[in-house]
Amino acid sequence: MSDATQQPVIAKYKPCYAELEKGKRYFWCACGQSKNQPYCDGSHKGTGIVPLPYQAKANGEEVLFCGCKHTSSAPFCDGSHNNLREKYETDDPMSPENQAIPLAEEASPGCVALDGSCQVRRIDQLPDEGAGTVEVRKLIGPEDGARHQSQFHLAIPPGYSQAMEFPRRQVLLFVASGSGELAIGPRIFALGSRTGAFVRPGEIFALTAPPDRPLTAYASIFPYSWGPLWRRGVGGYFDAAYPGRTIAMDRGKATPMADRFFQVLIDKHQGFENGAQFIGEIPRSKAAAHRHLYEETLIVVSGEGCLWTDNAKTPVAAGDVIFLPRKQRHSLECTSDESMLVAGVIYPGDNPSINY
Ligand code: FES
Repeated sequence: MSDATQQPVIAKYKPCYAELEKGKRYFWCACGQSKNQPYCDGSHKGTGIVPLPYQAKANGEEVLFCGCKHTSSAPFCDGSHNNLREKYETDDPMSPENQAIPLAEEASPGCVALDGSCQVRRIDQLPDEGAGTVEVRKLIGPEDGARHQSQFHLAIPPGYSQAMEFPRRQVLLFVASGSGELAIGPRIFALGSRTGAFVRPGEIFALTAPPDRPLTAYASIFPYSWGPLWRRGVGGYFDAAYPGRTIAMDRGKATPMADRFFQVLIDKHQGFENGAQFIGEIPRSKAAAHRHLYEETLIVVSGEGCLWTDNAKTPVAAGDVIFLPRKQRHSLECTSDESMLVAGVIYPGDNPSINY
């Protein structure tokens, strides 16, 4: 950028959603002065900034063009907009509009339904579908509106070890509390609380609980699956192209999002294709309603809160699982003085800070 080049203007603090026409060239406004955001209208003249062309690859291609002009992956949003202000965009839960939103009803034991297929699962009220010693609770699946994933809660009793497989699937594990061991083929990994782990397709894994207490874990499966196949042993296969498979929460590695934080635990670096697992911290506040272009499950790890959609709300607490289909308008509020910790899985997409 030459000395004469001006700084771009923040046109808006959110990206612009667009559905494109195949082959058409779109000129993204990079200067921020266009009256026709996110597209160029010639207002850049004299600024030293030029519009960026983008040719659509398919009809109906969904994109989020950057509105703040501070992205590092132009012309698309990369979440930088979140850090252009000190505080994350919030709204007042006590406003008359919010107070008029009714509490959601329980659709079935342990399942609270909000707008669309957005829902909350309360583990302790769900049936154990396990066929033996290991408790298996199905949380989310295609019958609930999930297009990409299934999620299960696994409880391994003290001192017990169970080998299992989700054939031809990517398996993301999250240990919210407690500790134990993960064996993937011949490799052994220690599991601590607030730790993510990844098992690649074709690998058989075993979860082992310590002698004195159970090990519980959430398992997210891509593409979706109807449940684990129990195995006698873990076999000998381990995909050595991805040696590192477990990542623990580390505040020092967190990415700020204004006054919030998130840390990506598992993504392409551990071999998870086209998605990401993260842990996020939400201070006492209610986020302004927003959407994502990815499907998301959120485990409430600690703290208390409330999940809002346009026409329903429901309290959430540690252990609950939230399912958000793509483009579902929602807001998560932390109502406890201590910050709320959530562990999320998003697919497709690997940047949890992109919202619109
Ligand atoms: S709108 Fe610019 S980075 Fe998101």
